[in-house]
Amino acid sequence: MTRIPKHLAVIMDGNGRWAQKRGMPRSVGHRAGVEALRDIVRLSDSLGVQYLTVYAFSTENWKRPRSEIGILMSLLKEYVIKELDELHANNVRIRVLGDMANIPEDVRAAYVIACEKTKDNKGLVLNVALNYGSRAEITQAAKKIAQDVLQGSINYEDITEELFEQYLFTRDCPEPELLVRTSGEMRLSNFLLWQVAYSEIVVVKELWPDFNEKSLLEAIRIFQNRERRFGGIKKVEE
Ligand code: FPP
Repeated sequence: MTRIPKHLAVIMDGNGRWAQKRGMPRSVGHRAGVEALRDIVRLSDSLGVQYLTVYAFSTENWKRPRSEIGILMSLLKEYVIKELDELHANNVRIRVLGDMANIPEDVRAAYVIACEKTKDNKGLVLNVALNYGSRAEITQAAKKIAQDVLQGSINYEDITEELFEQYLFTRDCPEPELLVRTSGEMRLSNFLLWQVAYSEIVVVKELWPDFNEKSLLEAIRIFQNRERRFGGIKKVEE
């Protein structure tokens, strides 16, 4: 309990395979994935994680069949509508990372309401990466900085890593100390490329719907046993 990551990021992978293994449609896996998410949000909050960022829908997920996109969108909406009261009561602040412009109106509205209602909460920050892609995030940051330089609100000499971070969706969030990916895939899949520069990455075999409290505690234990050097050398050698 002494070194709980302040910011935990999660790639919730494997819903489809979970369902297929059981001979069920992929939608059943996504629904089970929402249940797993619900538990992980509660546990993260009770462990004292301060920021939890979950990859809910990527800019690449639009390539999926239209019916699956529809299911994911309705689950995303259902989740935030059903959970809002409890999350708000628990002082959770909901934020969306990603470009909301292309999200169906009803889903967008549900998240706008949730973000607005919880904006002053001081507990866990739940970042829902929705229509999120890291390359798009970095590109829009570069464009906005260029625009601000042209308009004279900043000088190009002012462009530092710290300033750049303020143009990312994760502005005001510390970098994730721990990134967990389920279902054994060793990829970042365009998730938080800037932000995970020094994060510890823990890949677990379990498919996302099977990821439970025990799995999260195990991932945190692995993290706690890692030595973080940030490009430096071990303290003892120093
Ligand atoms: C990956 O499984 C998961 C997703 C594409 C989305 C994650 C979504 C949820 C957990 C449900 C909705 C989210 C929220 C925030 C309510 P996959 O379909 O890529 O699985 P596969 O790799 O086995 O095909």
